[in-house]
Amino acid sequence: MRQSLIMGNWKMNGSRQDGQALANTLAEGLGSVTQEVAVCVPFVYLSDIQQTLTGSAIVVGAQNVADQTSGAYTGEVSATMLADCGCKYALVGHSERRSYYGDTNASVAKRFIEAQKQNIIPVLCVGETLEERESNRTFQVVDEQLDAVIDAAGIDAFQKAVIAYEPVWAIGTGKTATDDQAQEVHRYIRQRIAARSQTVADSVQILYGGSVKPDNAKALFAMPDIDGGLVGGASLDAKGFLQICHSV
Ligand code: 13P
Repeated sequence: MRQSLIMGNWKMNGSRQDGQALANTLAEGLGSVTQEVAVCVPFVYLSDIQQTLTGSAIVVGAQNVADQTSGAYTGEVSATMLADCGCKYALVGHSERRSYYGDTNASVAKRFIEAQKQNIIPVLCVGETLEERESNRTFQVVDEQLDAVIDAAGIDAFQKAVIAYEPVWAIGTGKTATDDQAQEVHRYIRQRIAARSQTVADSVQILYGGSVKPDNAKALFAMPDIDGGLVGGASLDAKGFLQICHSV
């Protein structure tokens, strides 16, 4: 039985004060849950939020990690630094990184490996654009994004990793994939992993992301291959995010 995981991705939003207030409200309101809850916060607030959440059931993650270990890489943040800040997770290959900052499948694979070297669990984000979906290339795109990492890191690396399926057309648009559309791709991803290792396929958590809201979370999370959610906009509202956490 896979444990459910609900992750908030705050993206580049809010101030130190906003983040602390949000984290406090979440810590107080979550109560006892069996699922894991994480928030991916801006780098500069990681230590603060981690401290605020100490003693709660919520852990912190980063929104990205460098594809190099250390050295002259101005502006980058290494996996070692993230581990220092108490990060348990790091997103890699988020579609906003891929489309605005040029993260390629090859660099995403390196980020994934760097995170794992420091025992940070990488959350590999995959997903197709609207144009790719409309030209029936969803599975091909997901294959390429997944295979680049599997080939570089090996299938067993996914025993300590999470996959997030985030169709780009559903991110921040209010257009959620239907439960069946999401389930179809989640099942496909699990089968692709199973072709290499059934054990890994059975255990790997696959999250859905893209306009997850309090009113659609329950139905999405009830699908057999959806193990939780990666929540953007709705994770900035404590009440809504708590509702989503309790939709598992
Ligand atoms: P929204 O929930 O705002 O659509 O964002 C999803 C996302 O990108 C999470 O990483």
